[in-house]
Formats: sequence, structure tokens, C-alpha cells
Amino acid sequence: MIRVCEPREFEVIYEIINDAAQAYKGVIPKDRWKEPYMPREELQHEVNEGVVFWGYEEKGQLIGVMGLQPVKDVTLIRHAYILTAKQKQGVGGKLLAHLKTQTDRPLLVGTWAAAVWAIRFYEKHGFRLVSPAEKNYLLKKYWRIPERQIETSVVLADPKWRSAFP
Ligand SMILES: CC(C)(COP(=O)(O)OP(=O)(O)OC[C@H]1O[C@@H](n2cnc3c(N)ncnc32)[C@H](O)[C@@H]1OP(=O)(O)O)[C@@H](O)C(=O)NCCC(=O)NCCS
Repeated sequence: MIRVCEPREFEVIYEIINDAAQAYKGVIPKDRWKEPYMPREELQHEVNEGVVFWGYEEKGQLIGVMGLQPVKDVTLIRHAYILTAKQKQGVGGKLLAHLKTQTDRPLLVGTWAAAVWAIRFYEKHGFRLVSPAEKNYLLKKYWRIPERQIETSVVLADPKWRSAFP
């Protein structure tokens, strides 16, 4: 079952993100890794900034989350994380397909350049990498992330964005 997460699920969202984010350890630049990867304050900040988390529930337990954040004229996919033990079983794909039905606006997603599996995942679902120049522009326009994260990230756009901003 896919549904919006409730405020009382903050702690389980926190656990899922930090479990799944272990995939980044030793892969993303060392100076970008920390433990926990996303501290509670950072997660709370994201929620305060308008990220709405959707969850995938299996047998009454949340096993994956993915956020949507409307910003200006687009919607961002933020913080896609499936429990390590549940990855590569189609859960992320189902969540992403569901999230796509929740907005008519162009969708953008940012991830680490080194997270090649995540890039493949989004490409499989119709997203395409934007050019480095577009990436720099978009990350500054729609995200609030440090310069160093801009350098080490990529942006993928859905077909709607590509036709709206050819
Ligand atoms: C990326 C993520 C959300 C995808 O969810 P998922 O449920 O694992 O993905 P699905 O099972 O629906 O799709 C699997 C596809 O995703 C890609 N993929 C996901 N995890 C992968 C891995 N560890 N190694 C290689 N490919 C992977 C592949 O393209 C795979 O297709 P394949 O099985 O045909 O090779 C999930 O793997 C995850 O939480 N990863 C760690 C955190 C992360 O990278 N988040 C993205 C932040 S933007």
C-alpha cells in the first residue's frame, strides 16, 4: 500500500533514510558522508520546507519512503529511500510511479553523481540527465544545498520538464 506518511511516523522515516543511505558510504565524496547521514534536525527542516513523504507499507510496516516538494513551477522528488533489505524488489519503482500521478507539474530529481544505481533507477522510469550547465542552474534555482553538493550532484528531468523547457 502506498500512502502519505503521518507526522507520528517521523522516527520510522528517519530510520529508513539512514538505513538505506548506507549505500552511499564509501561511494559519495568522503567530505559529504556523515553518520547518521540525515540527522533528525535535517529531516525536520526538510518537512518544514514542504517535503511531503509518501510511504510504501508492507504487512503494516513502512519499508520505503519518497518525498515530493513543490518548488516554484516544478515538483522535486526528494529523499527516495527503500530499506536496504527491501531494495531491488520493485518497491522504489512502484513508489515513483505513484508519485508521478500526484502532480501535473514537471518533475526533477537530484542525486549524487556517484550514485550510479540511483541514476539508472530514474532513467528506467523516463528521467534523463540534464547537461552540467543546466544542472548547476537548476540546483541553484530549486534546491537549497551547499556549493560542494552542487559540484558532486546530477539532476534528472522527466519528459514534461523536457518539453516545457526544451
Ligand atoms: C534507489 C532506490 C530508491 C530504488 O528503489 P528500489 O526499490 O531498490 O528499486 P526497484 O527495485 O524499483 O528498481 C530496481 C532498479 O533500480 C536500480 N537499482 C536500485 N538499487 C540498485 C543497486 N543496489 N545496484 C544496482 N542497481 C540498483 C537498477 O536499475 C534496478 O534495476 P534492475 O533490478 O533491473 O537492475 C533504492 O535502491 C535505495 O533506497 N537506494 C539507496 C538510497 C538511494 O540511492 N536513494 C536515491 C536518492 S535520490
